[in-house]
Amino acid sequence: MQLDDLYRRVIMDHYKNPRNRGKFDHEAVTVELNNPTCGDKISLQLIIEENIVKDARFTGEGCSISMSSASMMTEAVKGHTLDEAKDIAGRFSRLMMGEHVEFDDYEDLEALSGVNKFPARIKCATLAWNALKKGIQDES
Ligand code: FES
Repeated sequence: MQLDDLYRRVIMDHYKNPRNRGKFDHEAVTVELNNPTCGDKISLQLIIEENIVKDARFTGEGCSISMSSASMMTEAVKGHTLDEAKDIAGRFSRLMMGEHVEFDDYEDLEALSGVNKFPARIKCATLAWNALKKGIQDES
């Protein structure tokens, strides 16, 4: 299988079977953002305790790139400290700028590496990550 095909499968798997989709029924850090270019939106909820992202959930409407990126992001940061989550978000930003970045901690993210070739889609892929950065920033 070509790498592109593998990446496409990973993206579609997260789109069709999103991880951590939903809302908490108790208090959580909540960030709502939209992609100004298309109007698609995400609502991200984080449970942060003792500087650790204990849990994360999201809801929203958007394209396969934005929703799969949100699914992957929640998986990638759960259980990590705020500093580690910031580091993962920083690496994802570099991936979107076309740098070669490895995600040993959550390899599915590498499936989004092709997005940097399509500038219009970068906003799709970074929507959930911008929500994460805002949520973390508000807490630290
Ligand atoms: Fe709207 Fe991708 S087209 S988030």
